[in-house]
Amino acid sequence: MIYGDGVRLRAVEREDIPTFVRWFNDPEVLHYLLMYRPMSMADEEHWFEGLAGRQNDFLFAVDALIDDRWVHIGNTGLHRIDWKNSNASLGIALGEKQYWGQGYGTKAVRTVLRHAFLELNLHRVELEVFAYNPRAIRCYEKAGFRNEGTRRESHYHEGRYHDSYRMAILRDEFEGALSAGS
Ligand SMILES: CC(C)(COP(=O)(O)OP(=O)(O)OC[C@H]1O[C@@H](n2cnc3c(N)ncnc32)[C@H](O)[C@@H]1OP(=O)(O)O)[C@@H](O)C(=O)NCCC(=O)NCCS
Repeated sequence: MIYGDGVRLRAVEREDIPTFVRWFNDPEVLHYLLMYRPMSMADEEHWFEGLAGRQNDFLFAVDALIDDRWVHIGNTGLHRIDWKNSNASLGIALGEKQYWGQGYGTKAVRTVLRHAFLELNLHRVELEVFAYNPRAIRCYEKAGFRNEGTRRESHYHEGRYHDSYRMAILRDEFEGALSAGS
């Protein structure tokens, strides 16, 4: 378990699969993600079987402490870890929509960044976010990410092309934010 402020990151279990199928077939959740194909139980089971052997992908279930109970609200992860250059990509999706906008995403991102920088000794964490996702952009900014540029019309969705942003945070910036108490 990796504990943060009111959130914890834990390993994904086989029992989580039906929850993922529910989340990742919800158009409102998929609207913000790269995945777009309906997801079957068989697809998710196949994906789960492959998780164990992956040395360069860390996936975590995000549990939040709500009314004194740990509730599984989403997933996060560090992907495509490049051990030579010490960088990785961050992904996050809170599938339980009723908890959007309550600070859990920012807490989960800060927790995964702490793990990336202070345990895995990474130097840089990056991500890509659609320009039409201001909630996610704000969440990443609060966690210390900076916008590094626009991928113009890189994402096709609902009949038109949308921009996306590349964002990243360096270890120094994360440590600076930690000592400033944010
Ligand atoms: C993106 C996500 C992880 C963010 O987590 P969250 O818990 O909802 O976000 P937080 O509450 O920590 O922070 C959201 C911030 O955005 C702000 N916000 C929300 N909607 C907004 C909008 N339409 N425009 C501008 N800001 C907005 C909130 O006010 C908050 O900022 P504040 O604390 O300064 O007020 C979560 O919403 C999610 O999983 N969404 C669906 C999947 C997704 O978008 N994944 C990311 C793909 S890159």
